[in-house]
Amino acid sequence: MKGVILAGGSGTRLHPLTKITNKHLLPLYDKPVIFHAVEKLVNAGIDRIMIVLSPQYLDDFVSVLGSGQDFKSKNTGHQIQIVYGIQNEPRGVAEGLWLAKDFVGTESMVLHLGDNIIEDDISEDIASFKTGAKIFLKEVSDPERFGVATINEKKQVVEIIEKPKNPKTNLAVVGIYIYDNSVFKKMEGQPKSDRGEYEITWVNNRYIEEDELKSKNIQGAWFDVGNFDSLLNASNYMKEKSILKNKQATS
Ligand code: TTP
Repeated sequence: MKGVILAGGSGTRLHPLTKITNKHLLPLYDKPVIFHAVEKLVNAGIDRIMIVLSPQYLDDFVSVLGSGQDFKSKNTGHQIQIVYGIQNEPRGVAEGLWLAKDFVGTESMVLHLGDNIIEDDISEDIASFKTGAKIFLKEVSDPERFGVATINEKKQVVEIIEKPKNPKTNLAVVGIYIYDNSVFKKMEGQPKSDRGEYEITWVNNRYIEEDELKSKNIQGAWFDVGNFDSLLNASNYMKEKSILKNKQATS
């Protein structure tokens, strides 16, 4: 399975921080935001990752991550391989995924939004994945910021609505998605949304229509560090975790 991490976008909600650098290179306590997504995929056994980014930050990402020399494969013990894809304009998450089509080839893939920090271990979900799509849900107090899932009595997702004004549930769709290779076929002819973007929610709804989408509720912490409070909260959370780990190591 291949990994794709999206690190493009405009990051306007983090202005003026993102006028000098890219959101995914900002510090999250002791490392850049992007490290968390890379580590998540590497720990789940993914050895080949494409990072999709805006052209002006390519050099910075290469300085920080290079070809992946700081990350060791869970499978071989050798370094993983990171490559880069360029998204010229931030036309949406689904466009970022589309740009990874040749890199993904005939394999299945896991898509990770680079500004999402996900505590749950997804190794099992990746190891056992066969076909269709798998998404992850989390109960939140502010669902209107996210894609929101409606579920039926069997707890199956029947619809996802992107940033609804009046959400029907509090189940947000987390920024990590596992797709089989039919994702690219499903994306052909995708229209832009009313807000002018190629939405990943549109892609997930195609899987729902084909009865091919599974979901799982995550239990651990989840941050989408797209705004100041969330970036600060995620940093504080990582600091607390690190203090706890050091205490446990010395006791
Ligand atoms: P968003 O937070 O939805 O968008 P943004 O990063 O442009 O921020 P803002 O709304 O503050 O302007 O993006 C979610 C994730 O997807 C984030 O990690 C950036 C990435 N992304 C891309 O890689 N390409 C894109 O075209 C878009 C819209 C987002």
